[in-house]
Amino acid sequence: MNAAQANATQPGAPQPAPERIPVIEVRDLVKRFGKAVVHDHVDLDVYRGEVLSIVGGSGSGKTVLLRQIVGLERPTSGTIKVFGEDPARLSPAQLQALRSRWGLQFQRGALFSALSVIDNIALPLRELRALPDNLICQAALLKLQLVGLSARDADKMPSDLSGGMIKRVALARALSLEPELLFLDEPTAGLDPMASDDYVALIRELRRELGLTVVMITHDLDTLVALSDRVAVLADHKVIAAAPIAQVVEVDHPFIREYFLGERAQRALQALPQPGQPAAPPPGEA
Ligand SMILES: Nc1ncnc2c1ncn2[C@@H]1O[C@H](COP(=O)(O)OP(=O)(O)OP(=O)(O)O)[C@@H](O)[C@H]1O
Ligand SMILES: [Mg+2]
Repeated sequence: MNAAQANATQPGAPQPAPERIPVIEVRDLVKRFGKAVVHDHVDLDVYRGEVLSIVGGSGSGKTVLLRQIVGLERPTSGTIKVFGEDPARLSPAQLQALRSRWGLQFQRGALFSALSVIDNIALPLRELRALPDNLICQAALLKLQLVGLSARDADKMPSDLSGGMIKRVALARALSLEPELLFLDEPTAGLDPMASDDYVALIRELRRELGLTVVMITHDLDTLVALSDRVAVLADHKVIAAAPIAQVVEVDHPFIREYFLGERAQRALQALPQPGQPAAPPPGEA
């Protein structure tokens, strides 16, 4: 299979089935910083209810793509629509309203070190000034429990938390506005394998319970295999494939060979369901 065949978003590709409702539509996106090209005519769709993972080498533009989708960075040309609206064309008030429909867990610097756990989670709610403070605290406590932490952790400071707890608090904050769409940038980076498996199990559960659409950037193959419905591969400044993993690994491209076909990758890919067999239990649920 070549890259074009594996990329369901290429012009001329078959139309998506009617139930596949696009939540994010990236069209002909070009992003340059000065003369440096990051994205060169990128197309990508994300459909409601799916987990789409974005992979690509370091510096391939994964985070920049996400920043453009959420309106933190402007495209050089091309269009991006999220829930049918282009973040780059909205007024600050309209963008604020759109932003409340998604949650973001950033790659770096997840929490404000001067704020307690509960205040970190409550921050997006306080910024909206939509609720009285006692209700904000209650809502933040519920989110804390949703990510598997307890009220005892509420007054801890970020410096008192383990790596896995920091990720969970950051996730609770991303969920504080009850988003339909969740962006995760390297959510399991820096976690030990057990904490990483626990986090993956949590995302699976939340997705099932909350019906979330998830866009996730990850280098971690186990996380990728355990969570993704489709994988978009960024290479050569383009999306060279956007398809289920089983199709992506068939694409003949040096990055894909290196990333998916090494020994470690082969071990991770064994967790994929074989034809006619039920899926292996996900990490943390075995
Ligand atoms: N504000 C900026 N100004 C100039 N160049 C930038 C800016 N932000 C990102 N870049 C460049 O854009 C390219 C893509 O960066 P990006 O952070 O998206 O990479 P990435 O794929 O997320 O990498 P990693 O896997 O290491 O996180 C890099 O070359 C980076 O240096
Ligand atoms: Mg990045």
